[in-house]
Amino acid sequence: MTPNHLKLLAETLAMQESWQVGKVLDRKFTLTKALSSKPVPNAYLATEIETGDAVVLRRCSPGSERSSLEREWEALSACKGEGVQQALALYPATRFISVEYHPDMVPLIELSPHKAETFTVLLPALLKAVRHCHQAGWIHGDIKPSNVLWDPSGNGVCLIDFGAALPIGLSRKNLTSWHMSKGLSSDAQAKGEGVVQASDDWFALTRWLRQMDKSELSETGRQRIDKTMDWLRKQP
Ligand SMILES: Nc1ncnc2c1ncn2[C@@H]1O[C@H](COP(=O)(O)OP(=O)(O)O)[C@@H](O)[C@H]1O
Ligand SMILES: [Mg+2]
Repeated sequence: MTPNHLKLLAETLAMQESWQVGKVLDRKFTLTKALSSKPVPNAYLATEIETGDAVVLRRCSPGSERSSLEREWEALSACKGEGVQQALALYPATRFISVEYHPDMVPLIELSPHKAETFTVLLPALLKAVRHCHQAGWIHGDIKPSNVLWDPSGNGVCLIDFGAALPIGLSRKNLTSWHMSKGLSSDAQAKGEGVVQASDDWFALTRWLRQMDKSELSETGRQRIDKTMDWLRKQP
């Protein structure tokens, strides 16, 4: 094991210890539930002690650069708007951010194949939200079904998890660490090469649409997918 591996292991263990259900952070929040199933969860549901409100607290994954939390905060602030998770506050000393919790929204990863039709209806809202981030100068960087929430009451979407967001135009060679999801990232993104571009998100969305189970879709649903694919092919 190299010294770097040891350092990462120590950091992972320390992070596992430091955030557990019941823990009070900054005398302000009590952690109530881990939201991600990762060995070291990044996202927790928490209660704000003073108000009783439920919020989501996010921290960076082990091994990430110290500046990555600030970058996530910057991305959320720049991309603020419809279809994007609302950031609440940055806690730089304890190194976490609070974001709004949506108890009634459902992550698309939990949508069963027979609800795939619903997903095709959401596509315009999803494209709009991603494009909004690009216009604000950022890519989301990790477009996938677990990072998009669906609002069943109004058929809206909400992009969450800006942990991999990067400013468009940034050269990846300046990064010492970055996050990507295998199978949904372009070669350049996976290898940490090239310049961050809007097409990185479109690549992920295209892969997602290709991998999706379309067996239970109606003709209209299929057409919605085809139309979206056509649009995606035309993006630079
Ligand atoms: N604001 C939120 N409202 C409702 N559910 C959320 C929210 N944020 C996260 N979740 C749930 O927690 C899961 C993990 O959150 P995420 O921010 O993607 O963390 P990670 O960095 O571990 O992927 C999501 O897939 C979703 O199910
Ligand atoms: Mg996620």
